[in-house]
Amino acid sequence: MEYVARLKEAAQAIKELGSPKVAVILGSGLSGILTLAGERRRKFLEIPGFPRPTVEGHVGEVAVGTLGGKEVLIQRGRIHYYEGYDPADLVFPVRAYALAGVKILVITNAAGGIRYGFFPGDIVLISDHINFLGVNPLRGPNLPELGPRFPDMSQAYDPALRKLAREVGAELGISLKEGVYLAALGPSYETPAEIRAFRAWGADLVGMSTVPEVIAARHAGMQVLGISVVTNFAAGVSPRPLSHEEVLAVTQNKAAELGRLLSALIPRLPA
Ligand code: HPA
Repeated sequence: MEYVARLKEAAQAIKELGSPKVAVILGSGLSGILTLAGERRRKFLEIPGFPRPTVEGHVGEVAVGTLGGKEVLIQRGRIHYYEGYDPADLVFPVRAYALAGVKILVITNAAGGIRYGFFPGDIVLISDHINFLGVNPLRGPNLPELGPRFPDMSQAYDPALRKLAREVGAELGISLKEGVYLAALGPSYETPAEIRAFRAWGADLVGMSTVPEVIAARHAGMQVLGISVVTNFAAGVSPRPLSHEEVLAVTQNKAAELGRLLSALIPRLPA
């Protein structure tokens, strides 16, 4: 079936779960941090056209329910470009949410800290990104049903949403840093030379996700709030080799705090 027709089918499946205006993508190790009241769930496999997750431990489900009285969609688990998907399939879920009426995308991830002064466990609001994936998910014919051919990316991470997140963080005593996220292809971690180059470009954080979804969300006119949990010093920042186990362990430690932040923040989002 044609891509847009598949998207419309997926959007219809989402609308059968509810009419959320806010979607939250919970990345690796974070999928358990939010529970909604009256959750209705669908596995990726059960939604027409959704990509099939390949990484073990990445759940791949969509839930709709309420949080503090607000209807919210939560995507638990995500897919990555390094798994081998076409970029258009990678952003299929975000586009389906847009067609289903979602206006605000909250996107979370685990990231390596590049900037000196970022430490494992820091929670960082993404202020901007660098796309070092070598692909853009909008490549190919434009889909005018979704958005314009040349979408503006100058305020990809909504300043008003970041301000609100800082206010909520201050109320809860959760300190939030801010930085530029660079998406690298993975799945190998970066080399120290790559990290030095990325730092010189202005990157503060490095990860293997988020950027395609944000590009697709902005194309479709959604407002975006991006939040990283720093799980490790990026390669060469500390002499320790990187391990996926360490990334997951630090995420687990910080998950509750990020959950508290999102639980207070989401009901106050302006959509
Ligand atoms: N590099 C890339 N992706 C990551 C990292 C990292 O250091 N930490 C968590 N995700």
